[in-house]
Amino acid sequence: MLDPVRFITNLSTGEMGYSVAREARRKGFQVTLISGPTSLTPPRGVRWVPIVTVKDLEAALKKHFFNHDVLFMSAAVGDFLPVTRSSRKVPRKKTLKVLFRQSPDLVGTLARRKGDRIVIGFSLETNDWLRRSRKKRLKKHLDGIVANHFRPGHNPFGKTRARVALIDSEGARVFRFGSKPALARTLIRWAAGLAGRSKN
Ligand code: C5P
Repeated sequence: MLDPVRFITNLSTGEMGYSVAREARRKGFQVTLISGPTSLTPPRGVRWVPIVTVKDLEAALKKHFFNHDVLFMSAAVGDFLPVTRSSRKVPRKKTLKVLFRQSPDLVGTLARRKGDRIVIGFSLETNDWLRRSRKKRLKKHLDGIVANHFRPGHNPFGKTRARVALIDSEGARVFRFGSKPALARTLIRWAAGLAGRSKN
């Protein structure tokens, strides 16, 4: 938030997280859906935890992560936070300087303490998507990462078909899905497979 009525956001719609929550519930799992503001309706039977800021998300993750076996971290967390927030609406002026600082790496911090839980992260890259996503998986201690490539003619946000790479310790596989719910079903099977693998 820059002031009480202005904020920085991105193109994320929540479609991916809501699809994973719905499909996991359908499979009979107990699901907590931590969600920023969206226009989507939470799936039935899912515990819905609304949040707005990175700080809210951090608190909600700390509260709920350790009671679950799997975390799908599809949140498009802001990487930059404004250093100051005005308590009043900033008046119109010729130029406005805003200083940002790096936000805490929420999933990277939690995944260090995950024990035998499975943590799946997401990544979105405009260039060098596979190499950067592989590196991100290792840096953030993730069991798996769902890599998305944003490029001219291919926008992975919202209700759309999905072309992703699923990357785990065995390598990267590129898949095409007709919809986010179809991808979500595969992600749940993948997480179950990773959980089985880590127990062996
Ligand atoms: O935005 P980016 O592609 O770097 O996100 C990679 C993963 O890290 C995602 O799962 C995202 O939810 C998570 N993330 C985070 N804290 C941040 C930025 C990203 O947990 N400050």
